[in-house]
Amino acid sequence: MASIKDALPTNVLSAPGPLVLLDSGESVRKDREPYDGYAGIYDRTGQGRFGLRMLLWARDYWAGAWPESVVDVACGTGQVAVALALRGVRTAGVDRSEAMLARASDRAERAGVDVPWVRSDLAECPDVPGMPFDAATCFYDALNTCLTESGLERCLAGIARLVRPGGELVMDMITDHGIREVWGHGVELREAAGILGVWRSDWHASRRVGTLDLSYFVRSPDDHWKRFDEHHEHRGWDPVEVGAALAATGWELLRTTEGLSLDPPTADSYRVVYVARRRGP
Ligand SMILES: C[S@@+](CC[C@H](N)C(=O)[O-])C[C@H]1O[C@@H](n2cnc3c(N)ncnc32)[C@H](O)[C@@H]1O
Repeated sequence: MASIKDALPTNVLSAPGPLVLLDSGESVRKDREPYDGYAGIYDRTGQGRFGLRMLLWARDYWAGAWPESVVDVACGTGQVAVALALRGVRTAGVDRSEAMLARASDRAERAGVDVPWVRSDLAECPDVPGMPFDAATCFYDALNTCLTESGLERCLAGIARLVRPGGELVMDMITDHGIREVWGHGVELREAAGILGVWRSDWHASRRVGTLDLSYFVRSPDDHWKRFDEHHEHRGWDPVEVGAALAATGWELLRTTEGLSLDPPTADSYRVVYVARRRGP
């Protein structure tokens, strides 16, 4: 059987003590789009679970009554859109990653539901079959990929076009504190289901941006380790900034909570959930 050592980058030293990464810069190849490789392990490593927890939060917020139609934006591998479709909600998914949408489409086919998937950046104001929808969902800090005010506003305006006046948006975003202090600078090893991930995070104060360089080692059925690297960038956003961007793009902010709780956010909140209503007409 191939050893994980064969696949590890040469600048990872694992003994003795904690894993140390020497920053030669060689281990990170930035020749892929974010999620090109990650799409293949997203569900296997449990990343889809948080979106489903957000969906339960939204269902409670809607007092158990699903809207008739929901567009799940930045839908990833489609677990939220497919879960909604299985509950009789007319739904669609939008994402800019072809690899993630391929997984979403497989999932819908396996579940026997018909969900249109649209490949687009939200900032490009996509047209989506069945628009306008009664609600939009945008889960698992997807809009933290917006690195500037204008970028965030373009995405929120793109979502506003998809929702009817009076319809709602439920989304979550990581705060500035969360990206700066919790992601911060560090190295983390993650292991699950025959998959080893090395996450290196850095905080860039001048841009208020946190970078995440992922190196993943995935054991294939023939016992070889396959490696991929991806570079992700996220900016933390605070409720005041998100509220201003929502107001500028046709939304009225109705509610903010500390993560999945029902409590208001605090200065130390890592994640904030937002509910906004589309102003009309
Ligand atoms: C962390 S995943 C979340 C996926 C899904 N919402 C979930 O709950 O599992 C972030 C997703 O957002 C998508 N994404 C990020 N920014 C986007 C944008 N501006 N337009 C469209 N998709 C975007 C990525 O391609 C990725 O699939």
